[in-house]
Amino acid sequence: METFIDVTRFLLSALASTLIGKRVLNCTWELTHRCTGKCEICNYWKNPSTLDQELRLGDIQKGLEKIYAYGCRWVNFTGGEPTLRPDLEEIVHYASQLGMWTTMVTNGSLLTRERIREFKKAGLSSMFISLDSTNPQAHDRQRGINGSFAQVLRGLCWLREEFISSYRAGGIMCVLTRENMWTYRDLLKLTDDLGVYAVFQPYHANKTGKTELAAELDERQVEGMLTAHREFKNLLCTKTYIKGFKAFFEEGPLPPCHAGIKYFSIDPLGFLHPCVDIPSVGHLMKDDMSVIRSEEALRKVRLCPGCWYSFRGEADAALSLKGYFEKLKIGLTTLKKNRSFQKRWRSRPAGAGRPGGYRGGKEEPPSE
Ligand SMILES: C[S@@+](CC[C@H](N)C(=O)[O-])C[C@H]1O[C@@H](n2cnc3c(N)ncnc32)[C@H](O)[C@@H]1O
Ligand code: SF4
Repeated sequence: METFIDVTRFLLSALASTLIGKRVLNCTWELTHRCTGKCEICNYWKNPSTLDQELRLGDIQKGLEKIYAYGCRWVNFTGGEPTLRPDLEEIVHYASQLGMWTTMVTNGSLLTRERIREFKKAGLSSMFISLDSTNPQAHDRQRGINGSFAQVLRGLCWLREEFISSYRAGGIMCVLTRENMWTYRDLLKLTDDLGVYAVFQPYHANKTGKTELAAELDERQVEGMLTAHREFKNLLCTKTYIKGFKAFFEEGPLPPCHAGIKYFSIDPLGFLHPCVDIPSVGHLMKDDMSVIRSEEALRKVRLCPGCWYSFRGEADAALSLKGYFEKLKIGLTTLKKNRSFQKRWRSRPAGAGRPGGYRGGKEEPPSE
């Protein structure tokens, strides 16, 4: 997306699709399983893809055309660590030129101010850097990267200074686990103070099998998150998505999963999956896109124990008119908030709010 005209066209076509009950497809594209991290919550780094297995730029471009023709209008580039690919800027540019909303999730380890400028030029709509705690040691330990916390904070400052403007959002993506589930307010304060946004998603044991890391949020805590939603305008999750946390944690009935119908995933080798954690059902270069909705694909989806990843919960939320307007409201709040962030930062002395000044947050749960 390059201009407001592109964004308006995107919003109108999403509204039209919602009204006629047609589902616009979202794609999570894992461009590599190589990684600079060694996270406790993830196991991609244990079985990395190799360079010669991964799709080349030309095939990715053909693939982007193919998924666009099949109705995909939003693609989230992720990994492994997507910034390990030196052609990531070109990939983003190609998708954006086709008319897709492009987003990225990164651990931030390879970000530079210059690279962030290039992503903006390429048409990236939003960028989220993973941050798991306001406590530097806790974050670095979870990520398995010394100095990761400081680098993430540097990345967030660059996002604010070089990227966030008009409709573009940038900030943190935080996975809520048993260790950090009560720190969301600290993270919201930290990010608001830095002039960036925050999204949360609950940890899921699908990737690692480590159920002991799972957070246990009860009704009171979900209510607390909804209060935070009213207070912190830099929290970009929809209320509908946050309300879904309760069903996910209580293992109550979740809304029906639309994997394969509303969203799908592509792995580094080009295999197509109804969702990141479901086995492949075909190949981007060899099969028709309809394999993601085949009987076999939908059968695999029915066997899934269910997650509440944000790509799922937020996409489901956007299927109703209420959800569409909730998203639109978040978009309009972002436009307003971006202006207030910029005003606030222009009036601060040079160097204020730089990572060096941050001493780190609490690691213990709040007392009752
Ligand atoms: C798989 S990572 C890839 C991008 C990049 N390497 C990073 O860590 O940001 C994408 C997002 O998924 C999150 N994630 C990893 N394992 C997860 C899990 N088991 N449950 C929920 N989210 C997870 C990461 O923290 C990150 O925010
Ligand atoms: S969560 Fe991201 S940084 Fe951590 S191992 Fe997985 S892909 Fe790498």
